[in-house]
Amino acid sequence: MYKHLLVPVDESELSVANVGEAVKLARSFAVPARVTFFHATADYGASVEGSRARAQMRDRRPPLFTEGTTMRVPELTPSEYSERVIGSSRALLAKACAAAAAAGVGYDTHSVISDQPAEAIVQAGRDCGCDLIVMASHGSTGLRALLSPSVAAKVMRQAGMPVLVTRSEGTDTQVEASRAIALIQDEHRSLAAAIYGMRRRLSQAIDGSAGLDREFFGRLVSYLQNFPERRHHVKEEESLHRLLREHGDQGRDVMHQLEAQHLEEYRLADALHTAWLACGEGAVGADPGLAALQQAVEALAAHVWQHMALEEESLLPLAKQVLDRADWREVAETFEGHRDPGFGEWSDEDFRSYFTRVANEAQLPQAPLVR
Ligand SMILES: [Fe+2]
Ligand SMILES: [Fe+2]
Repeated sequence: MYKHLLVPVDESELSVANVGEAVKLARSFAVPARVTFFHATADYGASVEGSRARAQMRDRRPPLFTEGTTMRVPELTPSEYSERVIGSSRALLAKACAAAAAAGVGYDTHSVISDQPAEAIVQAGRDCGCDLIVMASHGSTGLRALLSPSVAAKVMRQAGMPVLVTRSEGTDTQVEASRAIALIQDEHRSLAAAIYGMRRRLSQAIDGSAGLDREFFGRLVSYLQNFPERRHHVKEEESLHRLLREHGDQGRDVMHQLEAQHLEEYRLADALHTAWLACGEGAVGADPGLAALQQAVEALAAHVWQHMALEEESLLPLAKQVLDRADWREVAETFEGHRDPGFGEWSDEDFRSYFTRVANEAQLPQAPLVR
């Protein structure tokens, strides 16, 4: 029915859920619709809100020096701030693209700098030739203002095309569950985006258009090797699986299977690391090192798709039936990084900013991603 959806994204869990709904909708038509993911970066640089945002985005590294007992943290320069904001935008769009690619839905991205989110969304809808806007609405402010209720209302008034506003509604438990599930899916999408980034680099090296940038490729390898083992799977096992087990035997077999898959994933990620070590800088064409690297990437990718599908299609629906509101809150807090399971020296925040840097460097959303 609709041919081209515009889907604004921001940092919120509702946006993650909205991307999922939009992709499902696009896929439901007899001829699947195309999706353009849109992000408006506010030009906060010169504003009061911008200086506050910059202050919140200060580097997490230890302060460079102290004055007496007053700790001084280095402020970001305006250009560092811009780089981070643009990087964040790329990371958000890359994750949304990963969701569309996983569903086999055609997609594109569009981003602008604007202080007027509603106008920016409406203009993007027109510029991209969309016939439906699918957006979430929530009450956040500041950097999340893109999808605030007043923005949604304004878009509906001005769009000149149908607007579908998705909301997280239901009982408190359902709302809490949706938040936790969105956080888990968001991490899945970042892993998928890293795999897509690897495939793109590899195909460029194999077709000869760009020799392998070994150092950069290594950063993607490092993310796929460390993030699941140190954070993502640990959080799943320590919160979701533990809480489910406390409610009885339901899901026992599937959790057993998932935990075995976690171990297999570590093995495949180590094999990928070994293949990367053996591959030379600038490798191109029929280089045997590249072929081995491609084989290792595809083995890991196949495993990760299978694993994420089992979690999203079997475990999470079961958990929705079994867990209560307090459980879901605990899962959400764990995935937000507020409850540290106590493993590894890198925090969730460290991995988020690592992913953002890599997504920025790889220019992830700009490349066609093929599953
Ligand atoms: Fe898992
Ligand atoms: Fe997972």
